Amino acid sequence: MDPLILSLDQGTTSTRAVAFALTGGGSLTPVAVSQIELAQHYPHPGWVEHDAAEIWAAALQTCREVVDKAGGVARFAAMGLTNQRETAVVWDAATGEPLHRAIVWQDRRTAETTRALAAAGHEPKVQAATGLILDPYFSATKFAWLLDAVPGARARAARGEIRLGTVDAWLIDRLSGGRAHVTDATNAARTSLMDLDTLAWRGDLCELFGVPEPALPRIHACAGPLATTAAEIFGKALPVTGAAGDQQAALVGHGALKAGDAKITYGTGAFLVANVGDRPVPSSARLLGTLGYVADGARAYALEGSIFSAGSAIQWLRDGLKVIDESRQSEALAKSLPDNGGVYLVPGFTGLGAPWWAPDARGALTGLTRDAGPAHFVRAALESLAYQTHDLLDALKQDGAPQLSVLKVDGGVTANAWAMQFVADICEVVVERPAYQEMTALGAARLAAFGAGLIDDLEAREDAAPARWIPRMDDAERGRLLRGWRAAVRAAMIAAD
Ligand code: G3P
Repeated sequence: MDPLILSLDQGTTSTRAVAFALTGGGSLTPVAVSQIELAQHYPHPGWVEHDAAEIWAAALQTCREVVDKAGGVARFAAMGLTNQRETAVVWDAATGEPLHRAIVWQDRRTAETTRALAAAGHEPKVQAATGLILDPYFSATKFAWLLDAVPGARARAARGEIRLGTVDAWLIDRLSGGRAHVTDATNAARTSLMDLDTLAWRGDLCELFGVPEPALPRIHACAGPLATTAAEIFGKALPVTGAAGDQQAALVGHGALKAGDAKITYGTGAFLVANVGDRPVPSSARLLGTLGYVADGARAYALEGSIFSAGSAIQWLRDGLKVIDESRQSEALAKSLPDNGGVYLVPGFTGLGAPWWAPDARGALTGLTRDAGPAHFVRAALESLAYQTHDLLDALKQDGAPQLSVLKVDGGVTANAWAMQFVADICEVVVERPAYQEMTALGAARLAAFGAGLIDDLEAREDAAPARWIPRMDDAERGRLLRGWRAAVRAAMIAAD
């Protein structure tokens, strides 16, 4: 019988576990899945929190359900884990109790801190060391905020009584019964505290951000032995042999292993990750230098463009404006219009990410006329995915990245064929969506299989035919639409001033 790999994907809005069967040929086939939604907390404008205990409970429940559905733990050979990145968790080292709600990657509460650090001239040093710019998106200022908010936490952290970590570290700590305080290098790369060359914490940056190094987890490669689950969790100790931040896991899932390969995942946000090879490439176009993966000595670096609101714009249409009941209605509504009628949505709900990095920007809906209605809002939200993708690909070009032949896509919104055609048209690139959509969970499973020595490399071997969209819009039309978009982005920035 084929061995099974348990893959846990802890995302911003849900927690999902998938069991994959590893065939003799080395391809991974999903055999069971379980998913639980995650509550979002917005205590103040611009603040976003998760309950770390709820995350752990959901992780445990989904994993156990999947193990049961797949026929019990005996057939499972290894576990891989992937997660929403940057989200900061603080917990008691002895009891494993979270000491505060987790601060989610979208949270802007530390914008003043990063602004002050930038004004004091620290950005070039931080960017040279970590690849990251100064923005509240990353974990370091969130960790420091948590230590200041929890009474006595700073002193306790210095004594090793308190642990800090991103969601991978939190879950591995819980899975191992508190025995392993570890993170993988792709998650560590998102904290602003890890040196992108040496893949080790930087003492000077820990000092700059006010994060005590003893409270941070040990950094591991993405594949290989990271931890072992406590026997009581699944009824058998399972080796955790793969871990990566969700966007990096998706890169591996897509098999984007060569320089010049790129993927964009349209989830709550959207994240373009372009493989740039085995050396970090500094960005002068406000992209992020980051790690693709590190496994068995092989390293891939990446340039990344992070869009903070993608699928969340569609959720806002559904849950906020209530102009649609279900996300899948968006395709028919968008298609019902001959054009966008000059209406643009800049979904800066939690500020704007790359390449603008405007934490205080807010959403803008522009070009409204008296006949603008729900279909225009829906179309503008879908179009904004393509315009934002275009801006990231433009920044990649400015940074000298090789021209992409294909843009690999995944995530919920990619079910919308109209939106994918629009991405191909606006970005002038062939868009390819794999037949199996869970690239993040697949990537974590592949890392785990590789880390457990069950496969020899990370190459994708799942070969069902992908869906493809070929660009077909003329230049004049594309130029006109992009001019409208740029004007709308300017309006969102002005609104923030
Ligand atoms: O950087 C944040 C990202 O990792 C979150 O991804 O899929 O949970 O929205 P997702």
